[in-house]
Amino acid sequence: MKLLTLSALAGVLISQAAARAVGSDGKLVVGYWMSDDMSTLDFSKVTHINYAFSTIQNGVPSSPATLKKLVPAAHAADTKVLLSIGGWGGGNGFTPSFNNSAGRAKFVAATKKLIDDTGIDGVDIDWEYPGEPGACGQPYALSDTKNFLTVLKQLRAAIGEEKLITAATATHPFFDESGKPSKDISAFAKVFDWINLMSYDLNGIWGLTTGPNAPMIKGLGGVKASVVQGVTDWHKAGMPIDQIVVGTPFYGHNMTSIKSMAKNAGTHEYDPVQGGNTGHNCNGGGFSTETGWQDIIPYLYKNRTTAIPPWVRKFDTITRTPWLTNSETNEFISYDDPISLAEKVDYVVCMDLLGVMTWELSLDNGELLPVLNQISEKAAKHGKSKHGKHGHDSSKCIPTGPVTH
Ligand SMILES: *[C@@H]1O[C@H](CO)[C@@H](O)[C@H](O)[C@H]1NC(C)=O
Ligand SMILES: *[C@@H]1O[C@H](CO)[C@@H](O)[C@H](O)[C@H]1NC(C)=O
Ligand SMILES: *[C@@H]1O[C@H](CO)[C@@H](O)[C@H](O)[C@H]1NC(C)=O
Repeated sequence: MKLLTLSALAGVLISQAAARAVGSDGKLVVGYWMSDDMSTLDFSKVTHINYAFSTIQNGVPSSPATLKKLVPAAHAADTKVLLSIGGWGGGNGFTPSFNNSAGRAKFVAATKKLIDDTGIDGVDIDWEYPGEPGACGQPYALSDTKNFLTVLKQLRAAIGEEKLITAATATHPFFDESGKPSKDISAFAKVFDWINLMSYDLNGIWGLTTGPNAPMIKGLGGVKASVVQGVTDWHKAGMPIDQIVVGTPFYGHNMTSIKSMAKNAGTHEYDPVQGGNTGHNCNGGGFSTETGWQDIIPYLYKNRTTAIPPWVRKFDTITRTPWLTNSETNEFISYDDPISLAEKVDYVVCMDLLGVMTWELSLDNGELLPVLNQISEKAAKHGKSKHGKHGHDSSKCIPTGPVTH
């Protein structure tokens, strides 16, 4: 009886170990997590949890109570936990805390204490964005990026090499003192373990037209920013290819176009949007259009490639993203699905990037995260980098042509 129990237990342990291909090959699957309820969280499917968010209050990052439960549960599954500080709307504390030496010292000491007290594996700084305007009324200054580097160096010295420091970043390098993307961010590469590219929220109601939330590359309209642009520009500015993690959304953005898009070609996902051009800042709640995957699937048949009328599903073969339009109400939703996510994983593997990140795990119904988890098997098949130090050529890694399901 006792023997049976033991071997049954061993069986459980072995099957958990075998299932845990995620992370075994060094590729990361980083998941942001916002909830206090961990019942749906499968730690074995992520290498790192970025718990969101801590905000800076009186110069000190807050310590969410959830960490007390989250950290031991994650560690029991061999998954690391970072505390993400900031976020859209949570960045008021950065500029005033980092722009003077007393503020920097206070932040560094408080962050070290927070790490020691909670046992977290590190911090993820989600400053949206150093040196440029972020959420409505958030202070910023042209000296932000310079001060950011100073504080990061002090933090690294204080917490040591074993703990992690990462950042969630825009698709362009941090703005320098001229108010433009920095040409050389190699000093940041020395203090960060990696960066998480927020290669989403790129087109939305803050612009003039509908367009893809997370395009692989720029499409026929919309902004220049994309996954490939972000990887290219950060790498060009000195971020090593194996320190870049590509962000993927488990959500879309919904808008309403001023005319029907139901007969548009898949690549023509750019029509004037009702109430558009609200700006990121004070003229409208652009991010209220965020629509989680679980709110999108009611519009789709089980195969996810055909929409339930009056919705119509299209796939943009340039930006490699699906979109939905309602043929009666002209609502438009750009989003990611298992197909577009698989292509993003392929791109990351092909480019020898460090891994994939997602915002946000609780938006999944269990269909999306397994697609990101395929990174381990795909990376094993891909093998060691064949590109050498300089040969990473995005054009050879970008999928083209029709999608075959
Ligand atoms: C630091 O930033 C805050 C907020 O923008 C500003 O009020 C303050 O004057 C700045 N201090 C310095 C020393 O630049
Ligand atoms: C987005 O979707 C929500 C929920 O279906 C809806 O209430 C809202 O009106 C939509 N917004 C736009 C801009 O279409
Ligand atoms: C997906 O399912 C729908 C509904 O069953 C069907 O009409 C459609 O042909 C399927 N699409 C593909 C690509 O198999």
